[in-house]
Amino acid sequence: MWNDTEAARLLGITYPIVQGPFGGGLSSVELTAAVSNLGGLGSFGAHIFSPVQIRDIVAHIRERTASPFAINLWVDNEDPAMAGFDQASFECHVGRLHAHYAALGLDPPAFPDRFGQNFDEQIEALIEVAPPVISFVFGIPSPRIIEACRSRGIRMIGNATTVEEARAIEAAGIDLVLASGAEAGGHRVSFLEPPERSLVGTFALIPQVRDAVRIPVVAAGGIADGRGVATAMALGADGVQVGTAFLACSESGASSLHRAALLSDRARHTTLTRAFSGRLARAIRNRYSEDMAAYGDDLAPYPAQNWLTNSLRAAAIERGRDDLLPIYAGQSAALLRHATAGALFDALIRETGQAFRTRAVR
Ligand SMILES: Cc1cc2nc3c(=O)[nH]c(=O)nc-3n(C[C@H](O)[C@H](O)[C@H](O)COP(=O)(O)O)c2cc1C
Repeated sequence: MWNDTEAARLLGITYPIVQGPFGGGLSSVELTAAVSNLGGLGSFGAHIFSPVQIRDIVAHIRERTASPFAINLWVDNEDPAMAGFDQASFECHVGRLHAHYAALGLDPPAFPDRFGQNFDEQIEALIEVAPPVISFVFGIPSPRIIEACRSRGIRMIGNATTVEEARAIEAAGIDLVLASGAEAGGHRVSFLEPPERSLVGTFALIPQVRDAVRIPVVAAGGIADGRGVATAMALGADGVQVGTAFLACSESGASSLHRAALLSDRARHTTLTRAFSGRLARAIRNRYSEDMAAYGDDLAPYPAQNWLTNSLRAAAIERGRDDLLPIYAGQSAALLRHATAGALFDALIRETGQAFRTRAVR
């Protein structure tokens, strides 16, 4: 059977279909547990949460599923330029967003004590509660962390956007590699070269990564139906990670504004921009991304830029202004047809089986 792969065996799941984690508060316990209960691997993106919140999230997922699930963290949680980012830099970047704060009736934010979370504190708490799987992006954790995961029986997935990153993930002793093509929604999670130089598409990346490593390869980016799953597997993947299509489901943490945009014709037009968070990410093109293009890459580093746009996000949702909201989406958004995780998952299984039977792709 097509679903009986090494990735499925290692992860302890029936179908090698991973629901991609969503950062920025867009993951939900409900979606994660739903996908795990359906026989896939539900994931929860936890990079904005404190150690205490992460423990709670894991406990809540465990209340809803006895099946394996993954928690995702960003290994590199702060750009190097944050070292010189002071109050004066902050005021300069606030100034650039003035018109947008004003459009939403907001006061500009004040300089905070802390812009984001600390990865070392997050991972310590996470290892303590030992979820079945941890997936990492923006780097590879230290040998000490990898050993601690291994000794607790936690499976690890590392995210690669290039062959070199896939090799480094395997060499570090991580169990599975996610080959993430440039079509994918959300951030471009490169860590060896700048993301702009790591934009290989999924179709080209999967077979190259397959040939370069021996560990199981899970493919991500542009996969939203059974044709995509079957093709990724024909190219050498042992499984797939689907993001945007699950984000559009009612169980996700996305706002109804975000979900409606994903299911609209506008979803055909995505762009890569740093304007929302300070890091390069794929989102539906809108007034905010176009306005901010005037600054090029002259934006605050991550997580400061993300912090500066936090209040814009909340207010944009409240006021129904999707022209000012980060509508993260992959290039597959125009293929979306399903509104619930159950309907999407069933279709993925049915269509993949059909693709293998009728075209003998594998
Ligand atoms: C809104 C959004 C947020 C995301 N946040 C994360 C994240 O925090 N960590 C991560 O590993 N992947 C993240 N991703 C990537 C997805 O987990 C997944 O790999 C990707 O969406 C797959 O490509 P697709 O969008 O074409 O399906 C995000 C994707 C989206 C759309």
